[in-house]
Amino acid sequence: MRILVTGASGLLGLNLALEAAHEHTVFGATNKAPLKSDAFSVLQADLLEPGACQRLLDAAQPDWVIHCAALANIDACEKDPEQARKLNNEVPAKLAEHVARGGARMLHVSTDAVFDGEQGNYTELDTPNPLSVYASTKLEGERGILNANSDAVVARVNLFGWSMTGKRSLAEFFFYNLQSGKRMNGFTDVYFCPLLANDLARVFLKMLSLELSGLYHVVSSECLTKFDFGQRIAQRFDLDGTLISPLSVYESGLTAARSPRLTLNTNKLTNAMGEKPPSVDSGLDKFYDQFKCGYPDMIKGFGNQ
Ligand SMILES: NC(=O)c1ccc[n+]([C@@H]2O[C@H](COP(=O)([O-])OP(=O)(O)OC[C@H]3O[C@@H](n4cnc5c(N)ncnc54)[C@H](OP(=O)(O)O)[C@@H]3O)[C@@H](O)[C@H]2O)c1
Repeated sequence: MRILVTGASGLLGLNLALEAAHEHTVFGATNKAPLKSDAFSVLQADLLEPGACQRLLDAAQPDWVIHCAALANIDACEKDPEQARKLNNEVPAKLAEHVARGGARMLHVSTDAVFDGEQGNYTELDTPNPLSVYASTKLEGERGILNANSDAVVARVNLFGWSMTGKRSLAEFFFYNLQSGKRMNGFTDVYFCPLLANDLARVFLKMLSLELSGLYHVVSSECLTKFDFGQRIAQRFDLDGTLISPLSVYESGLTAARSPRLTLNTNKLTNAMGEKPPSVDSGLDKFYDQFKCGYPDMIKGFGNQ
């Protein structure tokens, strides 16, 4: 298959493009970030520019488009809600229209943060209640996609992994601070179910091969607090977990509201795939093995032009 991955310089997009390139012809689209790769073809486009979606599709001629590009920084969305609305809401709907017209299929990446986190164990039938600009623009994006293209897949995710900047995932935050002996906080009252980006990529590829459509929760089969996640990273890398201080998110002074219990039910995905998505521990084992094999430096190298 020919697969176009937008946001290919991002945490998810780059790991996904590399995973997909083992079996498919991949086109990775970036905006401002320099990106070079022998594993996939790099395309450049600012998706906010008129005609950019069609130009990308013309260049890649994809069977599938996996749309990872977004304004994914929660605080940046609070600072610039108009930019968040354009990137997280308008662009996905426009892209979905073009993709449907051209006869390709689309998988759109959304977020667990569409829920307010009061209830937990959310299914695809539960009603979202976004608390931040990021979450509400992502929810509008989901609706725009499914209105424009009823064949599309919308995947609500949470992930960790190694990124080109070394700063995009919570796992990198814990690891690099622990490695340099710095103290940091870990929230004891924010639950999530993160998947390793590479595991998430493989689940996506399986979803494409099964020709799924509609809304899916694509997170780990295991959920934990952010504090516990930091502790598991410390254990896995044999670093000093006492550097992570337990803290309540309500005492943290963060700009945008965070949902406390972002635990998503993955039964729909498990039934469709015939297997559960991977656990946090198996993802952390691979995250550690990747570190041992020089994967973080390899990933950073994609940005060195
Ligand atoms: N990271 C998480 O924990 C998490 C959790 C839940 C959901 N998600 C969702 O997963 C997806 C991927 O997130 P991520 O963490 O990988 O994001 P990321 O690392 O911030 O990457 C964002 C990507 O979007 C691209 N982009 C931004 N503005 C663009 C524009 N105007 N035109 C074209 N491309 C543009 C960026 O390209 P440049 O770098 O070239 O600007 C970059 O490649 C997003 O939809 C996000 O909402 C992420």
